[in-house]
Amino acid sequence: MCGIIGYIGNRQAQSILTNGLRKLEYRGYDSAGIAVSDGTSIAVRKAKGRIDVLEQQLEQSSVQGQLGIGHTRWATHGRPSDENSHPHFDQEGIFSIVHNGIIENYLELKQDLLEQGVSFTSETDTEVIVHLLARAYEGDLVTAVRTVVKQLRGAFALAVMCEHEPDKLVAVRYASPLIIGVGQGENFIASDIPAILEHTRDVFVLDDGDMAILTKDRVSLHSMETDEPVVRELVRIEWDKEQAEKDGYEHYMLKEIYEQPRALRNTLVGRVDERTQKVAFPGLNLTPQAITGIDKIFIVACGTAYHAGLVGKYVIESLTQIPVEVDVASEFRYRRPLVGKNSLTIVVSQSGETADTLAALREAKRRGSTVLAITNVVGSSIAREADDVVATIAGPEIAVASTKAYTSQLLAFYLFAVYLAQEKLALSEQERKQLIQALKQLPEQVENILDNADHIRSFAESIRHEKNLFFIGRGLDYAVALEGSLKLKEISYIHSEAYAAGELKHGTLALIEEGTQVIALVTQAELFEKMISNITEVKARGAHVLGITLEENIELHRSVDEVCLIPATEPLFTPILSVIPLQLISYYTSLALGNDVDRPRNLAKSVTVE
Ligand code: F6R
Repeated sequence: MCGIIGYIGNRQAQSILTNGLRKLEYRGYDSAGIAVSDGTSIAVRKAKGRIDVLEQQLEQSSVQGQLGIGHTRWATHGRPSDENSHPHFDQEGIFSIVHNGIIENYLELKQDLLEQGVSFTSETDTEVIVHLLARAYEGDLVTAVRTVVKQLRGAFALAVMCEHEPDKLVAVRYASPLIIGVGQGENFIASDIPAILEHTRDVFVLDDGDMAILTKDRVSLHSMETDEPVVRELVRIEWDKEQAEKDGYEHYMLKEIYEQPRALRNTLVGRVDERTQKVAFPGLNLTPQAITGIDKIFIVACGTAYHAGLVGKYVIESLTQIPVEVDVASEFRYRRPLVGKNSLTIVVSQSGETADTLAALREAKRRGSTVLAITNVVGSSIAREADDVVATIAGPEIAVASTKAYTSQLLAFYLFAVYLAQEKLALSEQERKQLIQALKQLPEQVENILDNADHIRSFAESIRHEKNLFFIGRGLDYAVALEGSLKLKEISYIHSEAYAAGELKHGTLALIEEGTQVIALVTQAELFEKMISNITEVKARGAHVLGITLEENIELHRSVDEVCLIPATEPLFTPILSVIPLQLISYYTSLALGNDVDRPRNLAKSVTVE
């Protein structure tokens, strides 16, 4: 999962490529590089490390030319190093390529090439492609790319340039995202929209098997398989430029946390019919008749999206009485799930490109299930392959740690659960109206929590030297505890565990000692007393407890050391509110530790490899 950029036009390519790479750094950031053609030869600059390192190199030795490709890497084959950085080139330096994805059969291809006397300069799977190109080339780059791509197995997005044809770039997409930006007298290739948004808002989203040939004045799209032209819709991107950038915040993560009220409002737009006070999903293919026939729902996702799915299960089961199973996508795809034609599979993915979730979607479809995607990226692979899409309208999420995508996913689940219940006639009119009313208040309630969050920063600073933390909760609070714990781990690097509060005494309680920090979520009225007992158990062993609870439960003060209050809502909807302090705790802890909040170690935003 790397970032690709390409440019062809009348301007100098170097800064267009490096600026574009900065917007793609969330996809991987262990090395970066560019290749630029001045019309006669191709110059390559690349270096291990962040884009700053590449830019320092370019300050010493810039590259001239109006055609180029660039790459920011998240290592899969071969450690992060100068040699393994992209672009890669053939032995004569005639061809240069950047690649996102994995070539599964690269070892056998490499063996063949080695036997033919080709020498390799890197440990990457990518390098085989460029040597194959050099061998296949007979004067036409497009034909050579087509010949080589047919030999590759795996997932890849490629951008290719050739010294002998300095008037074109070739791009190929197979199971890794790629878009083409269309400008005036210039065109672009990118893994994601923010990389080119300052230059153009008109994009083609390539489909699997598409090849794009770019000159400065033209983009032509073809099927790699048949060579026939293909037609893709030219999509106009309406995001503000600043929506895709930091907007004055110190980090994307903080900006995205504070954008949540807007993301929730946008996700609500058009989903409540004010006249009927019903949830509406215009354009949904799932008919009321099909809804009645659903006997089981599977929710499949990874990471934070999986945690949203755990909340989704509670809500759907409570409102519709349809049984729901939640699976981590990497497990679901290989466990021969008992999914059938009466199942509805809901896949959840912010990026819409997560390899395991996409594979799970395909597996569910293969088994006859209808698939509905909850995703933030409308043109993504998952959105395009699903039978139905419920889009979250959170805007681009850049920080690796997901925040506004998660709360928007929760809202999508709430809306969809109410919709299912309403179509199954499982709700009285009064119940429905009450739920809808509560949903509409959520953005403002999130705003209130964010406006009164100063004390959270001092709590976060107080835990920064901890080695271990516990998040405990029951029911929906347990699902949120899992998300709070993941958030803290990924950006503060402090180990934490989320525990179903009633399970502690079956073993884990042994880890609680004098001073152990415990964050207890206590938002479910029916479980309040049970939670007090669990809090008492940990406090008796010396734990320091922060309780997160509803304003009306102020008496929790007596049972914990510190309390963080959130406004009351329908019990099913509290996760959207209770997660906000947890997001801020992880952000401020990471900040206090001086970590790279937006780009935590070992991670990348979009996980397009298995
Ligand atoms: C954690 C995080 C990840 C993602 C996971 C799935 O903050 O962001 O756990 O939730 O990689 O990504 P998507 O939602 O793009 O499928």
